[in-house]
Amino acid sequence: MAATLTIDGTTTDAPRGATLFDCAARVGVRVPTSCQKQGKCKECVVEVAEGMAYLSEPTSHERHLRGNFRLSCQATVAADAGRILCHTMRRGHMRIERQALGLPGSGRPMELDPAVTRQGDRILIDGQEVDRSTGPVHGIAMDLGTTTVVLRLVNLETGELVADTSFENPQRFGGSDVMARIQYDTGHPGKLLRRTLAGYLTHAIEDFPVDPKTIYEMVVVGNSTMRDLFFRQSVYSIGQSPYQSITELEMAAGKRATTSLAETGRRCLLPVHPKARIYGGPIVSGHVGADAAAAMLAVDLAHEDRLIALMDIGTNTELIVGNRRRILAASCPAGPAFEGGAISCGMPALDGAIEDVRIDGDGTFHLTVIGGIAPQGICGSGLVALMSELLRTGRMNERGRFEEDLKRITLDREHGIFFLESDVNELAQAKGANIAGLRVVFGDYGIEFDEAAVFYLAGGFGRRMNAEAAARIGLIPSIPGDRIAQIGNAAIEGATIALLSQSKRRELEQLVRRVEHCRLETHPQFFDFFVDGCQFKPLESTSQVAP
Ligand code: FES
Repeated sequence: MAATLTIDGTTTDAPRGATLFDCAARVGVRVPTSCQKQGKCKECVVEVAEGMAYLSEPTSHERHLRGNFRLSCQATVAADAGRILCHTMRRGHMRIERQALGLPGSGRPMELDPAVTRQGDRILIDGQEVDRSTGPVHGIAMDLGTTTVVLRLVNLETGELVADTSFENPQRFGGSDVMARIQYDTGHPGKLLRRTLAGYLTHAIEDFPVDPKTIYEMVVVGNSTMRDLFFRQSVYSIGQSPYQSITELEMAAGKRATTSLAETGRRCLLPVHPKARIYGGPIVSGHVGADAAAAMLAVDLAHEDRLIALMDIGTNTELIVGNRRRILAASCPAGPAFEGGAISCGMPALDGAIEDVRIDGDGTFHLTVIGGIAPQGICGSGLVALMSELLRTGRMNERGRFEEDLKRITLDREHGIFFLESDVNELAQAKGANIAGLRVVFGDYGIEFDEAAVFYLAGGFGRRMNAEAAARIGLIPSIPGDRIAQIGNAAIEGATIALLSQSKRRELEQLVRRVEHCRLETHPQFFDFFVDGCQFKPLESTSQVAP
């Protein structure tokens, strides 16, 4: 008799006393490690979705973990039967948006002007010799998100993309949003979050098909919290009103000239050239971070005459509105609902997630499932499509109530996938925060939604969701579809541009200084906008009010 373990989709016997790590290794699932199962590196963390009761008590090496997270080298099977379901932070097939598409300038050859140059066999950074080599010269652009991490390896002399990779941010054990991570980091001195991430990054960089010592520069963008954690800055101030990065505070006090950061590869614990420069892009302000700044570079905002809007919907939604003359930005604390978090059958955009829903005239539900397999849950784009269809067919009203006092809607009886009225409440609140942000930013700019010539939807969720469905439920404004551009990961594109061009990096440094930050939490109408935004109805005007 033995329990069964399903890890990253692979199932095996799990005999009593065996560690999850060893069970996984037996069936070829590689769990990240740098300490050979000693309980020290903390990289082997897994999230247990089912069967916690069949595992041993946490050991002293796991004191930093809470909820359903365990170290797989420490957790042993403590039962002779039962089903344990877990995943590493490197599970395959999670749809992480690596590419950006349809940006201004896409396809245009870019002028190469990297900070790393060569003179004979001398490799220079900003004209200073750092190495002697006749080999290739590489750089990495990284988008360090709360949920996912994307890396692009580029040849700095040709601009060619050599490889890219992505994984879930292993810091998830410290909470799913930035506030939880700040709290975790403050309560767990020793930089555990950073060390765990550095371990994952090391493996990712070593897996690239080049000698890591040929990597001389890295451009890191991410929200203010992720960036500052990576650069060993205190993130405490980002979690307290007025929510500012330590770099912003130091800049205001005249102690630094920019919010960008620079370190050596050695100090960042990365296997790149020890003298490589690790450049953290400048942040805009507060929670509007270096990822939003990089996205502005990607859409060429510094040279944009038209009025454009850029929205990256996530646990923290970032909004930018403007053109080369004036730019406003805000960040909305939307929470994880649109990423499937806090929803009863919610899940990330993995194989098995329902990503689209259509309801026929006879009431039949048609589900599109990622990977074409049996449904296991519903992801953000599926939730948007589902609510739009419920609204269209009269099964849900504008206030998010189901017809005939129903409390749940069954999508797939066989696989137990359903949608509760309480799930609608979670999504309503996430939507309310986004809409309030949109109305504050457009309102402060003094324009209506339809004055935006282009409405860029950035990020993985923004790229996959059905824009028509999103407009029907009022998650995005009702503007003509041909003005909506779903551009994918604009942040990694901006980071790549900054890696390949010093003049663009200077442009980025200038651009962030010109952005006016709208602080939603102190805006007098924020609460009214939020309440109105919780309703599921098209968003026509910045000044619309609740009936
Ligand atoms: S393998 Fe290092 S802590 Fe488990």
